[in-house]
Amino acid sequence: MKAPMTRRWWCWWAVVVTVIVVLKPARSDPQIELINDGCSQYNATNLSDFFSNLNATFSDLRNQLSTENKKFATAQQARSSNPVYAMAQCRNYLSTADCVACYDATVAQIRNCSAANGARVIYDGCFLRYESNSFYDQTTLPGNSQICGNRTETQATAFDTAVTGLISDLVVATPKINGFFAASQRAVAGGGVTVYAIAQCAETVSQTGCQDCLTVARGNIQACPPNADGTAFDAGCFLRYSDTAFFADNQTINITPFLGGGGSSKKKAIIGGVVGGGGFILLILGIFLWYQLTKAPKAAKRRGNILGATELQGPEQYSYKDLKSATKNFSEENKLGEGGFGDIYKGTLTNGNVVAVKKLAIATSRAKADFETEVRLISNVHHRNLIRLLGCSTKGPDLLLVYEFMANGSLDKFLYGEKRGALNWKQRFDIIFGTARGLAYLHEQFHVCIIHRDIKPSNILLDDFFQPKIADFGLAKLLPEDQSHLSTRFAGTLGYTAPEYAIHGQLSEKVDTYSFGVVVLEIISGRRTTEVMSDETVSEFLLEQAWKLYEAGMHLKLVDDTLDSSEYNAEEVKRIIEIALMCTQSPVSARPTMSEVVVLLCSDRSLEQRPPTRPTFIDSDKRIVVDTTTSTQSLTSNATASFTEFAGR
Ligand SMILES: *[C@@H]1O[C@H](CO)[C@@H](O)[C@H](O)[C@H]1NC(C)=O
Ligand SMILES: *[C@@H]1O[C@H](CO)[C@@H](O)[C@H](O)[C@H]1NC(C)=O
Ligand SMILES: *[C@@H]1O[C@H](CO)[C@@H](O)[C@H](O)[C@H]1NC(C)=O
Ligand SMILES: *[C@@H]1O[C@H](CO)[C@@H](O)[C@H](O)[C@H]1NC(C)=O
Ligand SMILES: *[C@@H]1O[C@H](CO)[C@@H](O)[C@H](O)[C@H]1NC(C)=O
Ligand SMILES: *[C@@H]1O[C@H](CO)[C@@H](O)[C@H](O)[C@H]1NC(C)=O
Repeated sequence: MKAPMTRRWWCWWAVVVTVIVVLKPARSDPQIELINDGCSQYNATNLSDFFSNLNATFSDLRNQLSTENKKFATAQQARSSNPVYAMAQCRNYLSTADCVACYDATVAQIRNCSAANGARVIYDGCFLRYESNSFYDQTTLPGNSQICGNRTETQATAFDTAVTGLISDLVVATPKINGFFAASQRAVAGGGVTVYAIAQCAETVSQTGCQDCLTVARGNIQACPPNADGTAFDAGCFLRYSDTAFFADNQTINITPFLGGGGSSKKKAIIGGVVGGGGFILLILGIFLWYQLTKAPKAAKRRGNILGATELQGPEQYSYKDLKSATKNFSEENKLGEGGFGDIYKGTLTNGNVVAVKKLAIATSRAKADFETEVRLISNVHHRNLIRLLGCSTKGPDLLLVYEFMANGSLDKFLYGEKRGALNWKQRFDIIFGTARGLAYLHEQFHVCIIHRDIKPSNILLDDFFQPKIADFGLAKLLPEDQSHLSTRFAGTLGYTAPEYAIHGQLSEKVDTYSFGVVVLEIISGRRTTEVMSDETVSEFLLEQAWKLYEAGMHLKLVDDTLDSSEYNAEEVKRIIEIALMCTQSPVSARPTMSEVVVLLCSDRSLEQRPPTRPTFIDSDKRIVVDTTTSTQSLTSNATASFTEFAGR
């Protein structure tokens, strides 16, 4: 893919042009009716890089669709400064030639977005999207909507019933069908009309993702009947119905085997009851539909660049006034906590949505200039283990960030705060695993490597299902430059920060690996890293104690007493303690990357081949604690803090 790139895509472009010229007059129908399109507001920074990546991914996609007869393809060129991730999908009922013709049309159209670093085009027959970061698992996003045709069926109610039933069945069946595509048809009661419908998801989403996306799409498309055609679209799925056949009869799939579960037959019974018995109910339903259609003219034309509002248009701007009143004037009562970058408040917006508002304590002009760049970057981070930035306010007296709200609060409360002992082993493991995945994404999968620098339990929030979401990433860059050294203001927290960063300001993603290791030990032990554990003879910090217990083969003495020993596997816990110790090793290069950590956590092999070496850490008096047998000279150069060696080994 790399070296002969230029020649290859020129080659492909020649093919594209030929195919367009040759295929156009054929009696095929690539269905290039435009449903929606959108360009990102933001342009790529290095245009030559960007266009060569874009061209390469486009020709790769075309190759897959044309020569491998695929109906779905992804391709990416993620190496240089302007990575491109792209996805193309044809409706499965299109022939290969029609699919390629439709694809070519989307390419021509999407190039109208010029240098935009993200864009989408959706046609009846296919769609194409690219972004500057991976979006392959996205299902439903703001901007999901529907388009209704402008013809109306005369037998409104019977048609509505048939459409609703058919769409509901497709929504149930499609996620269970290999390839996430289904086409089906159904006769409308009492007349020669047939409804044709299809449902499709991106092949890279999960089964539940497909289900969720189609459920949202069904809600949207329900606004269309009795209009004769309707289409609903979203980031990860597509629904369409029509009273006119738009696929060949032999493309129809028997979806009955996938309906199962009783849910849909119940629905049919209800619908049957309505059709059979309730003329009055029908009347009400008719009035309701009529009201809906006239009140909200959803059968309107295509709306402009509304697609995927969030990632295509950058962070939403909130008004300072609205956020101020949402948080009751930043009242104490609404305060959720104090983060490294300012206080956080719970806010209730006028639409009832609850959000977390962070009032940044930094207000230097440089910070303000960097702010918009950083916020734009982090608003594009989408991962289930990273807190979502919804928007910001830059116009008022303070810079404000608006995040999704997590009702369960932060992990520290569950480890050693008011909810101590509430987490069982499975929940603790899920938190460890999810945090590792979130960090691996920030370091390696997002197109810019983001180093968090301040991983600690109070920055790990828990959702309603106790899944972790990392908060406060991407903000450290906003701190003034000269704060990398040990001081009360440096980006990091004592006890969690890797010594080489705290003392020398040596920053790498292994700084997060270190903090992660400390957090894992806290999760297992239910103790603060800075808490000194004393018995008659020695007083030890958590890391020190963990190491000694490991050396003595008594790992399990570290485990939180509130955990029921019957619910965890001793070998598993030992292995995870060893992984944590690998993460806190003194030589930066000996620490695993976060994606290696994810792999280690998944495997059940022991770590005998890679036994950890002794950790170093900084104690609460800002002393570096090292083993006298490991190298200490790297820690004794021009450090700003005084530190002494810990004598207790
Ligand atoms: C992006 O580039 C286009 C044309 O190249 C230009 O019209 C547009 O203003 C640019 N947008 C931004 C946000 O710079
Ligand atoms: C764009 O990136 C390439 C290398 O990927 C580099 O050679 C070129 O100088 C960059 N152009 C600009 C304008 O930064
Ligand atoms: C990418 O392809 C377009 C359309 O064929 C062409 O105009 C453009 O020059 C190409 N860009 C690069 C950087 O190769
Ligand atoms: C691209 O934009 C131009 C000008 O707005 C328009 O004439 C042309 O039809 C567009 N191309 C496609 C493929 O939509
Ligand atoms: C309905 O839409 C078609 C194209 O989709 C258009 O040609 C036609 O004029 C429209 N009819 C009305 C009554 O708006
Ligand atoms: C479906 O029917 C079309 C003609 O309408 C035919 O060309 C095609 O080969 C058939 N496909 C299958 C899979 O039978």
